[in-house]
Amino acid sequence: MAKIAVLGHGVVGSGVCELVRDNQQSICRRAGQPIEVKRILDLRRFDGLDYSDRFTTDFNEILSDDEITIVVEVMGGLSPAYEYASAALCQGKSVVTSNKELVAAKGAELLRLAKEHNCNFYFEASVGGGIPIIRPMHLCLAANEIDEIAGILNGTTNFILTKMIKEQMDFDTALKLAQDLGYAERNPSADVDGHDACRKICILASLAFGRHIHPENVHTEGITAITPEDVDYAANWGGVIKLIGRARKTEDGKVECLVAPSFVHGESQLANIDDVFNGVLVRGNATGDVVFYGKGAGKLPTASAVVADVIDVTKSPATSKSLTWAECEENIVEPFENTFSAHYVRVNGVKARKAVENLFVNAAFLNRKGQPGGEEAFVTEVMLESQFLNCLTQLEGLGVQVLAHLRIVED
Ligand code: HSE
Repeated sequence: MAKIAVLGHGVVGSGVCELVRDNQQSICRRAGQPIEVKRILDLRRFDGLDYSDRFTTDFNEILSDDEITIVVEVMGGLSPAYEYASAALCQGKSVVTSNKELVAAKGAELLRLAKEHNCNFYFEASVGGGIPIIRPMHLCLAANEIDEIAGILNGTTNFILTKMIKEQMDFDTALKLAQDLGYAERNPSADVDGHDACRKICILASLAFGRHIHPENVHTEGITAITPEDVDYAANWGGVIKLIGRARKTEDGKVECLVAPSFVHGESQLANIDDVFNGVLVRGNATGDVVFYGKGAGKLPTASAVVADVIDVTKSPATSKSLTWAECEENIVEPFENTFSAHYVRVNGVKARKAVENLFVNAAFLNRKGQPGGEEAFVTEVMLESQFLNCLTQLEGLGVQVLAHLRIVED
């Protein structure tokens, strides 16, 4: 019998407790032994549950209990999740988490602690909710050099953009709907400003390239400025706008990593990933493109990934050799001004077209229904980001108002 503790009885924590209880038979068959939730840490009271007697408010009760060999951290946030996870690992207890903030900030250190104490730090649920992505990357794709990862990593923003694209909603209306349906938080900043997607691409990039990629070094843009006009121009170009997290290795050993709303061509595999679904494309040098698709959030999909990690620990308690990356003090993320992309730009001004033609010689102009006089939209050729930004400044110097600019994802 494997005994576990669950830190946090919120959406995911309650899902874990229910899943372990309700699927006990199949879990036992796969783990080779029964799994029991012995303790649940939460400051709140949860009366009337068939496991109400297992709650505690004292983490030390869990830490000092030798019967508990696995700690599931589903509290979210950095503190006290980080302190609890480190303390558990130092006691030789494996830690399983869904907490992307924790993994993105402290993953390398917690993986090192797990190795030093011959236990595991697992976090399948931290990226893509119920979609298997962490384990496939370090086990099934282990023979590959990963060249690139590109993904829709945030369900809330994908839902909002889908409503803007398919039902012509504006951003505020789509956000309100996402909040009413319980997808977006009341304070939706982590989702709509791109921070959640940034943490997830950092985790995937760290795993793929072997060194810790810190979120604060990754240029991140959200979707709050996207308008129905931009959606229409994307359609005229032949694609859609998606919030894309991307990471790729450069030839000099750095990593290009970026989160930004981007034009994605209609034929791209990422273009048709809609609503709250997530999709991640991993390009291996042997496999070519492999795409992972499914529900990136939600109580039971996320709990499913957490419990699968728990089952894996019960089968192989010794530290996984392949789930690892190194701590990295220096910043190995290429400054985004040094990266190359084609861009979509929307501008306004009486002489806008002439100014654009002079500054962006290969600009391809776009159209939309109801396009007012003076508004121009165009896509550029692939340019160095700093050169592109310089051209935008020059456009503004000519009295042209820059209303929007987004990157174009090339396949
Ligand atoms: N807020 C996240 C999303 C939840 O919308 O994708 C899962 O990490």
